[in-house]
Amino acid sequence: MDYVTQLYDLAKQSRNMAYAPYSGFKVGAALRAAGGKMYAGCNVENVSYPCGTCAEAGAIASMVVSGDTSLVEILIVADTDDIVPCGNCLQKIAEFGNRDTLIHSADLNGNVKTYKLADLLPHNFSAKEVKHA
Ligand code: THU
Repeated sequence: MDYVTQLYDLAKQSRNMAYAPYSGFKVGAALRAAGGKMYAGCNVENVSYPCGTCAEAGAIASMVVSGDTSLVEILIVADTDDIVPCGNCLQKIAEFGNRDTLIHSADLNGNVKTYKLADLLPHNFSAKEVKHA
């Protein structure tokens, strides 16, 4: 089974666990790290709406806690044909990816569109702007 199919299956399974009682919009994410391991996440909403977290954020946190910090590709799935990560999540993906990191956008029927991070976030805030002590 190819990587995208594996990521799709994992993301779709994870979407079933989404906690989205306020928006009703469930999202699943799965990513592949450079070492080959895959990590998953779902959106987790909160009654204090800004506290909610996106599926991508959950998958990235799972990757980092497991010791991986290099993101090769990420797939997100929702009940729509045009989901792309929000701006906040694009910045999170940029932290651990690069301009060629693949972002796959999938619907519930298995249709997948693929972008590069550079397509969705041509410029991003990066560490070179930060003065380190
Ligand atoms: N959401 C994600 O989890 N990922 C995205 O790429 C877009 C939006 C979530 C946040 C919120 O729980 C719900 O979708 C509606 O915005």
